[in-house]
Amino acid sequence: MNRLNRRTILIIVALCSLGLASCNRQPAQPTPPPYTPGFGEIMTLTQMRHLKLWFAGQSGNWPLASYELDELNEGFDDLATFHPTHKDAQLPIPQLIEKIIRAPIKQLDEAVNAKDLEGFTKAFDQLTEGCNSCHQATKFGFNVVTRPTANPYTNQIFQPAH
Ligand code: HEC
Repeated sequence: MNRLNRRTILIIVALCSLGLASCNRQPAQPTPPPYTPGFGEIMTLTQMRHLKLWFAGQSGNWPLASYELDELNEGFDDLATFHPTHKDAQLPIPQLIEKIIRAPIKQLDEAVNAKDLEGFTKAFDQLTEGCNSCHQATKFGFNVVTRPTANPYTNQIFQPAH
């Protein structure tokens, strides 16, 4: 092997090992952004809880009503955290929530704790009015919610478990 060839081989070996080293390096993994539920997704869950809350209360299942009310309330907390603004909202979302929805939730909480069906029904209608007034305040007034008339959750028992 002449000198030139030996040098060429050395260079090739050097280049190869460089290449290998860079091949072994892990390519930068793109980290996915943390999952944030969309406004509409939180609202869809809110709609479900609104309905389940109604049937739990009307069935006198106060522990279930209390659970659904907590979940509903937490959904509004998430909304304030993850979606503090909405394109057409007259006020920041956390302010709308405080102004419109916390009072009927508190009344519902009192009615549930007192196992008071009449008070529950009244406070539920006030909650529903609150839902609709926030839809109006966010230029979403074409989306009207109301007292549920039939329960689509046929795979769940709403009567109190004994
Ligand atoms: C803070 C204001 C606010 C309150 C309070 C509020 N909503 Fe909404 N809701 C909105 C906005 C804004 C949208 C449209 C979301 C979007 O742009 O995706 C919406 C959308 C919805 C939708 C449509 C979801 C879909 O994708 O089909 C339903 C159903 C709904 N709300 C139910 C309710 C119910 C039930 C309540 C009360 C328990 C309630 N909302 C309370 C602001 C509010």
